[in-house]
Amino acid sequence: MGFADFTRLVDPPLYVLTVAGAHENSGCLIGFASQVSIFPPRFLACVSEVNHTAKLTADAEVLALHLLGADQKALAAHFGELTGDEVDKFAGVAWHPGPFGAPILEAARAVFEGRVLERHRFGDHVGHLLEPLDASASAAQSPGEQLRLNDAVDLDAGHPPEEALDHPAGGSRGAR
Ligand SMILES: Cc1cc2nc3c(=O)[nH]c(=O)nc-3n(C[C@H](O)[C@H](O)[C@H](O)COP(=O)(O)O)c2cc1C
Repeated sequence: MGFADFTRLVDPPLYVLTVAGAHENSGCLIGFASQVSIFPPRFLACVSEVNHTAKLTADAEVLALHLLGADQKALAAHFGELTGDEVDKFAGVAWHPGPFGAPILEAARAVFEGRVLERHRFGDHVGHLLEPLDASASAAQSPGEQLRLNDAVDLDAGHPPEEALDHPAGGSRGAR
């Protein structure tokens, strides 16, 4: 059994990460995300260096992390299969600025905004350590109702991970 076989056994929730830039919003679907501390509360959200979203997260102060319902695969595909290099993903999607400035997707089941405390390059992704600032839900939510990786494994990423191998910043060949 290899590491890839191990990770296939894991079914993490998926998030839509959004960020406001000076001239545009950006956002992408992410699975590499998790709470990493309780006291103080901290959350790590990882963005591939090849994604359009990475251009905005590089110096953003606040990010928003949205949970989707298991029935919202179309919204996951919108943010996970399209790229801001080619389209404005926020055109035609209901959103408003959150209390701390990140774009909040109104269809999401739950969302929190987090302040970026630290950034670290982890192989081909940049990890953003977040201090949660606020959180809200569209209605009462229960664990298990959220969209997870196994609901979306057939989606074709707008920027496939292999692009990192040719990225100037350099993905680490063989590190996956
Ligand atoms: C199931 C799934 C999980 C993904 N997980 C991540 C992730 O953890 N981090 C990331 O940066 N991109 C992830 N992606 C890829 C981006 O969502 C995708 O390449 C997107 O089109 C990038 O959009 P952008 O170029 O507008 O930023 C994932 C895609 C899919 C389909």
